[in-house]
Amino acid sequence: MIEKDDSRTMILDGVEVSFTPGETIYEVASRSPGEIPTLCYDKRLDPFGGCRLCVVEVEGVRNPVASCTTPASEGMEVRTSTEAIDEHRRILLELVASENRQIDVDPLRGYASQELTELVDRYEARTGRFEGARSGSSRTDDDNPFILRDYDLCISCYRCVRVCAEEEGDHAINVLNRGFETRISTEFDGSLKDSDCTFCGQCVQTCPTGALGDRKAMRYEGEPGNIEKTRPICPYCGVGCSIDVMTRDDRIIGVQPAMDGPANLGALCIKGQFAYDFVQHPDRLSTPLIRGEDGELHEATWDEALDRAAAGFKEALEKHGAESVYGVASGRAPNEAAYTMQKFIRAGFGTNQIDNCSRA
Ligand code: SF4
Ligand code: SF4
Ligand code: FES
Repeated sequence: MIEKDDSRTMILDGVEVSFTPGETIYEVASRSPGEIPTLCYDKRLDPFGGCRLCVVEVEGVRNPVASCTTPASEGMEVRTSTEAIDEHRRILLELVASENRQIDVDPLRGYASQELTELVDRYEARTGRFEGARSGSSRTDDDNPFILRDYDLCISCYRCVRVCAEEEGDHAINVLNRGFETRISTEFDGSLKDSDCTFCGQCVQTCPTGALGDRKAMRYEGEPGNIEKTRPICPYCGVGCSIDVMTRDDRIIGVQPAMDGPANLGALCIKGQFAYDFVQHPDRLSTPLIRGEDGELHEATWDEALDRAAAGFKEALEKHGAESVYGVASGRAPNEAAYTMQKFIRAGFGTNQIDNCSRA
């Protein structure tokens, strides 16, 4: 079969580039060197066009257009960085900065928390020329253990609201009021615990200012030493989400979702995002325990523990038959282990009572 070539071309900063119909100018430009700045953009979400930082000049169009919402078209000539456009971006960032209580936040607040800081520095917008009124008021009364709601730092990009609706399908948060009264809030303006929030943390990780912060990771803010990131698969269910485990001096201080993780593209659930304390918990078992004649648990070797388990299975089979055995394989285990488990139950005990908890 002959494939139809749908590609078109346009001129981007003087260079002819190809695009596929339906792509926006920003999507085309993001494949080339030179970066168009964005604040309300998250490539996982529907284009919003709220911040106007991504504006570009299009030949023949009188005013600059938002590149994140404008489709590329055949023959279009686009300039992504000119004196006028860069000045527009700098003033816009000066205005945003003037409304924000604190531009510099610790990177432990969240994955995207440095975006505003980096843009303000890139465009040298810390001029203090404007004195903007502050919008948003922080919810210091929300005592949930996971998410800081520091709305004094909110710039109304609505990425949190959109990720909650579009990625989590939750609609736990939305926009309250308009203009300087704008606030991100829950239904009935209550706490997150009393809302439909699942504490997946996606709003935290997409927030470009740190207005939403990862309270657990923030326990380690300001400590000396570099943060290292290691990329494992989340150990909980069978979905296989990629995570970036943050460590400092060999201690886990937080988890961030892998935005390029093939199974999750930046999404996590509450367990993958926040439930990692077990890894270094002092009560975590590090050796098998066997209950002795005295009724107490005692440390044992793996051989001793496996022998004890085998004896228990044997006794159950002799007394109650194969139907007394039921196997449930863990969703944390790889396919090979799941296969071995069903063999163990079917061939070893002669029953088909085998299941797996990977039904996320
Ligand atoms: S934690 Fe998840 S469910 Fe809760 S508000 Fe944020 S995105 Fe929505
Ligand atoms: S809380 Fe963060 S993500 Fe949400 S609108 Fe404000 S700045 Fe944007
Ligand atoms: S990134 Fe395009 S308008 Fe905000």
